[in-house]
Amino acid sequence: MDCDFDCREFDRYRIDLPYPKVTVTEENKPYARLISGAYAGPGSESTAIAQYTFHNHFTEEYPDVFTALKYITVVETTHLRLLGDLIKRLGLIPIYATYETNTYWKGSYPDYNTEIGKLIAADMQGERDAIAHYNRLIRQIRDEGMRELFRRIIMDEERHIEVLRPLYQKYR
Ligand SMILES: [Fe+2]
Ligand SMILES: [Fe+2]
Repeated sequence: MDCDFDCREFDRYRIDLPYPKVTVTEENKPYARLISGAYAGPGSESTAIAQYTFHNHFTEEYPDVFTALKYITVVETTHLRLLGDLIKRLGLIPIYATYETNTYWKGSYPDYNTEIGKLIAADMQGERDAIAHYNRLIRQIRDEGMRELFRRIIMDEERHIEVLRPLYQKYR
C-alpha cells in the first residue's frame, strides 16, 4: 500500500522546535486534574481531533483544506499524547474525561458544520480557545517545565490559525 504521509508537507503545520521534556518528581493530582480539561474537556485536544476528522469529510472539493486538516489532526494527536503522558506521571489515569468536572468526553463537543467557510471558521475559533485554555494553565500551574510545554503547544496552535486564515478568506 502506498504511504500518503508527506513529512515535508507535515512540517508546514507544526513549529520546528522540540517539545520540552517535563521532569515530574512527584505526584500532583490537582495539576493532573487541571491538565485533564485540555486533554478531554469540551475545548480539548480530544475535541480538536474529533472535530478536524469530522470536518474533513466535507472538504473533498477543496484539496488544500483537506490536506491542512489532515496534517493538523496529526499535530493535535501529538498534543494529546503529551498531555496524557503528563497526566499519567502526575498520578491520574488519562481516560477520555476531564477530572475538573468528572465528566467523560462527549460527542456533542465537536463543531458539526459541514459548509466549508463555516467549518474553517469553527476550527479557527477552536484554536483560539485552545490557546486561551493553555494560557489559563500557564497561570494556574506553577511549574516552569510544564509551562514551557504549554508555550510550545501554543506555538503549534498559532501556526494552525496562520494556515487556516488564508483558507477561510479563500472559501468563505
Ligand atoms: Fe492542539
Ligand atoms: Fe491546533
